[in-house]
Amino acid sequence: MSRPNAKSIDLDEIGPGSAFSRDALSSPKPSTVPEPRSLELDRRALTILRQNEWGGYTLPTRGLYPYQWNWDSMFVALGLAEFDLDRAWTEVETLFEGQWANGMAAHIVFRQDDPSYFPGPSIWRAEGSELPTSGCSQPPVASTVVRDLYEREPVSGRAYLEKLFPKLMAWHRWFHTMRVISGGAAIAVTHPWESGRDNSPDWDAALANVDPAGIAPYTRRDTGHVDAAMRPTSAEYDRYLKLVEYGRQTGWDHAHITREGPFAVADPGVTFILMRADRDLKALALILDKQDSAHEIDTWLYHAEEAADYLWSETMGAYAARDLRTDKAATGVSSVAFLSYYAGISVPRRDAKLQVTLQRILDAAPYALPSFDPEHPRFDSRRYWRGPAWAVVNYLVSRGLAEYGFILKAERIRGDTRRMIRKSGFFEYFDPITGAGAGGDDFAWTAAMWLCWASPTTDAS
Ligand code: GLC
Repeated sequence: MSRPNAKSIDLDEIGPGSAFSRDALSSPKPSTVPEPRSLELDRRALTILRQNEWGGYTLPTRGLYPYQWNWDSMFVALGLAEFDLDRAWTEVETLFEGQWANGMAAHIVFRQDDPSYFPGPSIWRAEGSELPTSGCSQPPVASTVVRDLYEREPVSGRAYLEKLFPKLMAWHRWFHTMRVISGGAAIAVTHPWESGRDNSPDWDAALANVDPAGIAPYTRRDTGHVDAAMRPTSAEYDRYLKLVEYGRQTGWDHAHITREGPFAVADPGVTFILMRADRDLKALALILDKQDSAHEIDTWLYHAEEAADYLWSETMGAYAARDLRTDKAATGVSSVAFLSYYAGISVPRRDAKLQVTLQRILDAAPYALPSFDPEHPRFDSRRYWRGPAWAVVNYLVSRGLAEYGFILKAERIRGDTRRMIRKSGFFEYFDPITGAGAGGDDFAWTAAMWLCWASPTTDAS
């Protein structure tokens, strides 16, 4: 496939004021600029973003993920913003080229067919937008990222913000109408892929109730790129495909899928990420003096505490996914349980327990933050979302903890992210026991998190 309008990122193009300027990289000031190994990693991270760039958007990694993924792109925008703010805005704009008429920003924007990936556009057959996309969404980090980009340079950001604001509103409205079950407040995912945490144990019980009988024969492509022991099992994959077939048969009727479909689980990850994004979107509405929009967002935020109440598990001392079909809570603690701070939720009586749970998990993992409780029988340190640590979740959890003053834990998570990348490179995710990299290599979101957060260079900027 040819690479359309690729705008390469070159060190020569990086402005002199940037933390990643050629000056900063080649003639460090001893007082502010870190040691050579970190600078080498800064360069490497830049190169990865440049190599994965595909003409206005960035591939998560070549081979394994040859399209534009929703939350990957938004994290990448934060990395790009460190040296090319316009290019960061473009990353957000291209994601919304795949927005559906009903408001959904899809989890994958395909644009073209690539045989190295399965399931591609011909399997999804989702026609809600002018571009081919998948039929579900992904964690909505975009409004928070847009606010970050805008605040870096409000004057040049204003025009971007004005164009993007109605799109963000439409997407949030889609979540608040299409992904809640009447009377509920927590946000449901109707496919594990919508959570961004594909094979988390959070979905095990609900997936077990999905009968995969009758799915069309298929060939997986992911296990041709990376070790099968790091990926979801074939039993899980059958059910993922069954859910795609179900959605397709409804003509991607999202309200119907949430109400009646075979899988609907209230997800603390998406719920807390959207809650935070709602707060950021409201701030943007006020900047643009859009009072009606701000009021509409208030009606969503009005239910925030109710959603958190629904997800709280007193027995686990953590927020937990809850199957909306059976009303049963997940039995183990996932890393997204600790996104309550990021979401702006703080209930003192609960937080005391949540902090104990977090400390227990930090004590059990040499490299924070495992995606699933290392002391739970379903923990698997190498298999994707069943244990490994992910730089992007680390960033979100650490940011929330820091905002609430839990500085030691926030810094522990940031420091461990730095150590894993230093030790192993820019992998898709990391074994939280050994720090070894796993999954795809040269991964864009890991490189982006290094550039905007984990690199010691960010301490100096
Ligand atoms: C996997 C991850 C998901 C990510 C995608 C592309 O499906 O679970 O969160 O967006 O890969 O990196």
